[in-house]
Amino acid sequence: MIGIIGGSGLYSGLKELGGEERKVRTKFGDVPVLAGENFVFISRHGNPPVPPHMVKYHANIDAFRAMRIKYVVAISSVGSLRNDIAPGSIVLPDDLLDFTGRVWTYHNDEPVHANLYEPFCPELREKLEKMVDRSGGTYATTKGPQFETRAEANMLRTLGADVVGMTVAPEARLARELDICYQPICLVVNYVDGNTTHENTVSMVKKMESRISEIVRELIKSDGI
Ligand code: HPA
Repeated sequence: MIGIIGGSGLYSGLKELGGEERKVRTKFGDVPVLAGENFVFISRHGNPPVPPHMVKYHANIDAFRAMRIKYVVAISSVGSLRNDIAPGSIVLPDDLLDFTGRVWTYHNDEPVHANLYEPFCPELREKLEKMVDRSGGTYATTKGPQFETRAEANMLRTLGADVVGMTVAPEARLARELDICYQPICLVVNYVDGNTTHENTVSMVKKMESRISEIVRELIKSDGI
C-alpha cells in the first residue's frame, strides 16, 4: 500500500487504476483522497489549489496516518541549481535543507524530538532508482512563493543544495513524526536563473506528466511496499 502526494495531473491516471474519491477526517480538517486497492493519492495543493505556504501539510500527512499508510512518495517540482541537472529530468534527493523558517511538528504540548538525520526513505529510493535520471542530492526548501534571488541561489549552491522547491521540508518533518517513510520524486522544471517564469514551470510540469504517471503506476503495481 503506497501513499502518493502530488499535483492534480496524476488524478486521471490514478482514477483509471480504480481510485475512488473519499474524504478522510483528521483533527486538522477533512482531506479529499483518491483511494485505490493498493494506493492512496492526495492532491497536495487541494482544489482550488492554494500556494505552497498555505498548503494544509498537517492534515495531508495525518490523512496518510489515518489510512495506515507507511510509505509515501511526494511528486514535487524543483528548480535546478546545477548545470548537470537539466530541466526535464527526474531526481530522487537523499538530503534536505529547510529555509522555510517555520516550525513543522505535531508536538506542541510536549518535547518530542524525531531523528531526521536521514530525512528521506532509502527503501523507496532503491525501488525507484532504475526509473529516474538521478538518485541522490540535496533538496533545499524555501518559503516561496517567489523564486530565488541570484544571491539566494548562490547561497544554496554554496551550502550544497542541488535542487530547490517549496514543499518538501514540512512534509518530510511531519511524516517522520508519524513514522511514515517519505521520499520525494522531483521533477526538474527549470534552472534557477533569471529566465524562470511561473508559466514556464507549469508547462514543463505538463510535459513531464505522462512520464511521472508511468513511474507512479509502475510503483503501485510493483509489490513489496
Ligand atoms: N525555485 C523554487 N521552487 C521551485 C522552482 C524554483 O526555481 N521551480 C519549481 N519549484
